[in-house]
Amino acid sequence: MLDTIASVGNILKDIRETNNFSLQDVTRVTQINYTLLSRIETGKRLPTKEQIQKLAVFYKYDENELIKHLISDKIICEIKDEEFGIEAMQLAEKKIQYGKSLFIEYENQERIKLESRRYIGNKAKLTNWIMNTIQAETKNIKSFIDIFAGTAIVSQSAILRYDKVIINDLLYSNNVIYKAFFEKGKWNKEKLVDFIHKYNSTNSNLLGDNYFSNNYGNKFFEQNIAKKIGYIRQDIENKRANLTEKEYNILLATLIYNIDKVANTVGHFDAYIKKPIRKKPFQLKLIEINDFDNVEIYRKDANLLSKDIKADIAYIDPPYNSRQYSRFYHIYETLIKWDSPELFGVALKPEPENMSTYCTVKAKNSFKELVTNLDVKYLAVSYNNTYKSKSKSSENKIKLEEITEILNNIGETKVFEQSHKFFNTGKTNFSDHKEFLFLTKKYE
Ligand SMILES: C[S@@+](CC[C@H](N)C(=O)[O-])C[C@H]1O[C@@H](n2cnc3c(N)ncnc32)[C@H](O)[C@@H]1O
Repeated sequence: MLDTIASVGNILKDIRETNNFSLQDVTRVTQINYTLLSRIETGKRLPTKEQIQKLAVFYKYDENELIKHLISDKIICEIKDEEFGIEAMQLAEKKIQYGKSLFIEYENQERIKLESRRYIGNKAKLTNWIMNTIQAETKNIKSFIDIFAGTAIVSQSAILRYDKVIINDLLYSNNVIYKAFFEKGKWNKEKLVDFIHKYNSTNSNLLGDNYFSNNYGNKFFEQNIAKKIGYIRQDIENKRANLTEKEYNILLATLIYNIDKVANTVGHFDAYIKKPIRKKPFQLKLIEINDFDNVEIYRKDANLLSKDIKADIAYIDPPYNSRQYSRFYHIYETLIKWDSPELFGVALKPEPENMSTYCTVKAKNSFKELVTNLDVKYLAVSYNNTYKSKSKSSENKIKLEEITEILNNIGETKVFEQSHKFFNTGKTNFSDHKEFLFLTKKYE
């Protein structure tokens, strides 16, 4: 046998001769051209990885060993005429070590959790109460619908309890978030870490202005952070062809979750804080990624979707006042669609899209239609008593008595109550805020 510093061609020749194979024998079995084989063995050509695989199988030889020789021969080919070849090799080795330690550092970094997002009306603090009440009051539940999912905090809990969970919301940004956090798909951790590292080491002082910074800079975000957000968003789009669908969604959701932490707002984009913006560090962290195969994700109007789906229970948590979610989170919608819309008004909103009937005078009819149409055994409906509020925009469109009547008419209904501190923007006094959960067993 040859020593370990022989070339891959020499090694292949040596193995063939030791086994008493002629070049014709090898060509017949591996279908590798005779002349090509001879050129490989004499070092005039390097084999491909595919050819190495075929030869390793035929010779019953360790494929990885041959590949290592192939790579080292390739490196030699590349650097042999270079004056600083050896130093370049040593530098490459250092870089590989650095890359490895960086990867380990990112790998051990805490991931951003689904529930860490600021979102009006989210049920993060109530999820346990809601799910435990549902569990105690229902029987034989295997499938669950979260039809106004919002942050999907309730869906997340349902995924761990039930065989199938349908998650829906009108917003583009929410849809991407559900897919990133939950949907089964192909993704490569090293690739994602590379992206995050590249973004974190990009110096925003050196970046030019872009759609995002031109519009939202020094308003919703500090100027340099806005430049970086626009740059990252465009880069994700430029690289889309090299990303799987899951990787694309993970990077977009990661961007949303990280910019939520540096936005110059009280938690939504209806307005920005009119004070000089304090500089904050902007270092991205990856979100917590899961691959569940028991989820179905939609971005449809709840009333339309209700005609096409079926499950044992539907959790219903619509908006109850005039505040449209697509308007409150317009910057995330624009960031996801990345269609550079014309913007209007002080809050720089695009033309309205995905406006919910639940925020209008049609709310009661929409609700009645939805709960009647839904093909489920049980309904769990969240409701809060903000209609006593002082501000017009946070007045409820459906009254407690109306909701009670609608649900009583379609099934046996129980009401549960919980006191709850409300997330508000300062205008409204919610000291007597109560959260209700209706549980209805629909009549057959
Ligand atoms: C009160 S929030 C849901 C909060 C959610 N339970 C949570 O814990 O985050 C209401 C959600 O309904 C969505 N929505 C409003 N109208 C809708 C409609 N007609 N169809 C589907 N989703 C709608 C909004 O985008 C918003 O995310």
